[in-house]
Amino acid sequence: MNITLANAEATQALGNKLGEILVPNSVILLFGELGAGKTTFVQGLGEGLGITIPIVSPTFTLVNEYQQGRLPLYHLDLYRLESPEAIAGLFPETYWEGKEVRPGITAIEWANRLPYLPESYLEVSLFQTEVARQAKIEFYPHNSEARLSIFKIIKDIAI
Ligand SMILES: Nc1ncnc2c1ncn2[C@@H]1O[C@H](COP(=O)(O)OP(=O)(O)OP(=O)(O)O)[C@@H](O)[C@H]1O
Ligand SMILES: [Mg+2]
Repeated sequence: MNITLANAEATQALGNKLGEILVPNSVILLFGELGAGKTTFVQGLGEGLGITIPIVSPTFTLVNEYQQGRLPLYHLDLYRLESPEAIAGLFPETYWEGKEVRPGITAIEWANRLPYLPESYLEVSLFQTEVARQAKIEFYPHNSEARLSIFKIIKDIAI
């Protein structure tokens, strides 16, 4: 599913909508070039979860945890982690499995750097076409139960 994002507010609104509806242990893998809007999307996600603390990219801390909202938000940014070993050393599965931490929503910027993937996830790719910024949203696996219901909801914000 593709959605046009006319401005930063639209990117944020998409995140917000998902923050309102996603269930515990959902994983959002964010793809997109430098400045594509990944953090903007996560800021909206936090808002949708009811987090009022400003969300900033976890550049130095690598993982930021927000416990204030409807569900915890685990925000990872892999930009500074060059090697697969360094990323594996973060134990990203800790967050998406939600066994050792409170089950929540895990959002990962620069997810293309992950050496291994969760069993199921929402892929959000942000990119610029000739005419507009867009988000491409897909579920893995494709036959995921949540797929249709979530597409139905986010379709409303696709103008
Ligand atoms: N749909 C949009 N249209 C125009 N500007 C946007 C849109 N979405 C986000 N932006 C703006 O793009 C800039 C970069 O956004 P952001 O920091 O979220 O990108 P990023 O993908 O997280 O970058 P990085 O690769 O550095 O992590 C911000 O100024 C943001 O407001
Ligand atoms: Mg960012």
